[in-house]
Amino acid sequence: MKKYKLALVGATGLVGQTALTVLEEFNLPISEYKFFASARSAGKKITFMNKEYEVQELKEDSFDEGFDYAIFSAGGDTSKKFSPIAASKGCIVVDNSSAFRMDPEVPLIVPEVNMEDAFNNKGIIANPNCSTIQAVVPLKPLDDKYKIKRIVYSTYQAVSGAGHKGLADLENTSKGEKPLKFPHPIYNNCLPHIDVFLDNGYTKEEMKMVNETRKILNRPDLRITATTVRVPVQNSHSESINIEFENDFDLKEVRDILKNYPGIILQDDPETNTYPLATNASGHNEVYVGRIRRDESIPYGLNIWVVADNIRKGAATNAIQIVDELIKNNN
Ligand code: A2P
Repeated sequence: MKKYKLALVGATGLVGQTALTVLEEFNLPISEYKFFASARSAGKKITFMNKEYEVQELKEDSFDEGFDYAIFSAGGDTSKKFSPIAASKGCIVVDNSSAFRMDPEVPLIVPEVNMEDAFNNKGIIANPNCSTIQAVVPLKPLDDKYKIKRIVYSTYQAVSGAGHKGLADLENTSKGEKPLKFPHPIYNNCLPHIDVFLDNGYTKEEMKMVNETRKILNRPDLRITATTVRVPVQNSHSESINIEFENDFDLKEVRDILKNYPGIILQDDPETNTYPLATNASGHNEVYVGRIRRDESIPYGLNIWVVADNIRKGAATNAIQIVDELIKNNN
C-alpha cells in the first residue's frame, strides 16, 4: 500500500492540537509527518504516536521537500500566503481558514455531504466554518428528500471557537478580569457578535453560514438567515435550526432519515430528557441531532437542535476525513 507524507500547519494551536489526537485515532497510511507553526514555536517538542517531533518554522521553502497533503489551521493570512505555495509544489492542501472558501475554483467540503466535489480540486480544498459543517450534515438528506425552501439559524457557540484566547477569556472574566479576546465579558453573558460586523448589519460569521451553506448544498439561491451567538460554554457548538420545506414530510420518516445518515447520532427522547448537549458531544466526531418537531406556525416547517464538537467535527476531524477520503480514492 502506498504511504503518504503529511504536513500539519498550525500544529501548536487549539485546532492543530486536536488534529494531532484525531490523526492518531484515524491512523492514516502516512509514513511521514511534519509539524509547522510560527517562528515563536520553532523547536518546541510534540509527542505524536509515541514519537517526539520538533515543531518547524513555516517558511516559503517548507514545501520544497514534497508533501502529498497539508492541513492548514494557522489563520487566514498564513493560508493566503502559504497554501498556494504548497499547492504549486504538488501538495493537496485542506485549509481550515476562510481565505478560499468562497473561491469558485476551490471545493468547500463536508465529506458526508459533497465529497465528490473534492476530487475536482486544483490543489486547495476548503474546510467550512465550524457552525456550517455541523448544520449541513442533517440538512443534506432533508434537502434531498423534501427540498428546503428557507432556513433560520440561531447558534449558541462555544468559546473554543476563538482558540486559546477564547478559552482564557471565559476563565478570566469569571474572576472579574477584563476580556482580552471578546468585546465584553463572556462569563454570564451571551454575545450576539461573532467575527466582525458587516455593512448589512449581519456579522461575518452569520454571512459565512448563509454563503457556505448555499455552496455546500449547491443551492445558490436558498433563503437563509442566521443569528450567531457566543455563549459561556467551553466547547461544542449548539444550534437551533428552523427549516421550511417545499414539500410535506412525515416526522417518523424525518427521524429515520437522520438516524440512518452517516455521521449523525440521534438523541431525541423528551420523556427521558434526552437531547444533544455540548458536554456530551465534546470529544466526539459525530453530529448530534434532537428536539425534532414540527414548526406549527407554517405548513411544512421543522425545528431541530444540532450539537457537535466545533474543534473536532467543526475543524480537525472534518479536515482529516477529507484527507482520508482522498487517500481511499487515490486522489
Ligand atoms: P504559534 O503557536 O507559533 O503562534 P490558535 O488559533 O489556537 O491561536 O492557533 C493558531 C496556530 O497558527 C498556531 O499553531 C500558530 O503558531 C499558528 N500560526 C500563527 N501565525 C503563523 C505563521 N505566520 N506561520 C505559521 N504558523 C502560524
